[in-house]
Amino acid sequence: MNKITIAIDGFSSTGKSTIAKQVANHLGYVYVDSGAMYRAVTLYAMNQGLIAEDYFDVKTLNDKLSEIKVSFKFNKGLGFAEVYLNDKNVEKTIRSLEVSRFVSKVAAISAVRKKLVAIQREIGKSKGVVMDGRDIGTVVFPDAELKIFMTASPETRAKRRYNELINRGDNVVYESVLKNVQERDYIDSNRKDSPLVKADDAIEIDNSDLSLEEQFEKVLELVRKTL
Ligand code: C5P
Repeated sequence: MNKITIAIDGFSSTGKSTIAKQVANHLGYVYVDSGAMYRAVTLYAMNQGLIAEDYFDVKTLNDKLSEIKVSFKFNKGLGFAEVYLNDKNVEKTIRSLEVSRFVSKVAAISAVRKKLVAIQREIGKSKGVVMDGRDIGTVVFPDAELKIFMTASPETRAKRRYNELINRGDNVVYESVLKNVQERDYIDSNRKDSPLVKADDAIEIDNSDLSLEEQFEKVLELVRKTL
């Protein structure tokens, strides 16, 4: 059967990755979490002391970009590919609220985007890929056969993210998570390079009141219509 490219974009914590993973597994496609790549570069910048509250040494980060290797390795047990920064597994570290605080600033840098978009296109060049992010249907794969734009209210999204962080043992308060979700939405939607916008040909799914099963079914239905 013909393999297609599925682009899933949307605001922070809309549950894109959960659905994207399920759909990819079901279809036998490769799943790529493009946000994890921006998070990995952010972790590098943090480790190097290049970014902190009210401080960002963009020039040094740009100069060091060639030293940053972002890659994925499939974890059979988990059933998806984990992200590696310079060959170190950083899948868990990059999900912290600290990384979330800085990631949108790092993702606004054009040289960072250029580097990561090139890797994303390379991974997806043979199709059979489900990639989630902010600019997948608009910039990375504008010709993707199926584009989905996920939305949900900021409160619904912050609640989901808060539960995720608490479940993994992080000590966070709901208000900080909500503030972070709103800040990232603002920066992601207003940056000059590849802002978060719904592609004209994307299908919007508001999942505020949808269960995971309902979302999965909805997306599969769209895949069936596209194939
Ligand atoms: O998807 P996730 O919330 O992990 O993404 C983290 C951040 O990475 C986003 O808030 C956004 O700033 C950036 N990002 C991006 N373009 C993508 C994916 C993520 O700018 N394709």
